[in-house]
Amino acid sequence: MEIHTNPQMERLVYKIRDPNTRNEDFRNALEKIGEYIGLEIARELQTERKTITTILSREAEHHLLKESPTLITILRAGIPLYNGLHRAFPESETGFIGAMRDEKTLKSNISYCALPDIKDKIVILADTMLATGGSLIDCTELIRQRSPRKIILASVISSQQGIKRINDYDSKIKVYAAAIDSELNERGYIVPGLGDAGDRSFGEKIDK
Ligand code: PRP
Ligand code: URA
Repeated sequence: MEIHTNPQMERLVYKIRDPNTRNEDFRNALEKIGEYIGLEIARELQTERKTITTILSREAEHHLLKESPTLITILRAGIPLYNGLHRAFPESETGFIGAMRDEKTLKSNISYCALPDIKDKIVILADTMLATGGSLIDCTELIRQRSPRKIILASVISSQQGIKRINDYDSKIKVYAAAIDSELNERGYIVPGLGDAGDRSFGEKIDK
């Protein structure tokens, strides 16, 4: 489990927890968090040495990513987080999975899957909230069938219970989060949390 925070990240998490934050500001804060998390993930990816000859006819050496990770996100709450990750990895290919939690059983139903070729690739699977962990595990299963080399999970708020479930599922999968909360309520919401991340980003959905 990788929790990455600093006072500026905390400022953004504080903002998304605030019930008075409007949809637009909520999405913008999630995007910025996604960018920060992406830059943290970049630290663990392989680099290769590259040199560039500058206008002054001198060489400068840099260590650039050897390979851009493929970004996959879970619709719909994952979209702003994905947008931020894409800013950190602008050359990445992208995949989308549509999943919705049943409000009673809390199980996720996957209804849409559009993925590029991820065989032997590094995949970052992004979802804003890791609550029971069911959505991320189901989507990870789907991704695994396509034989990626590595899967990294990116979330904004994770519950302790969800992290444990991912760990029990596969302890080699790393989970990045901006904050970890201690509880899940009887409706499967993270507490203290921020409410429904999809609704807070895009407005309340009427077909649940
Ligand atoms: C939310 C959230 C995650 C999922 C997390 O999605 O975006 O995908 O719940 O819960 P879990 O860890 O218990 O599976 P939701 O089904 O509410 O759809 P939405 O993104 O369209 O709002
Ligand atoms: N999905 C959300 O949007 N919020 C939660 O707290 C849990 C699942």
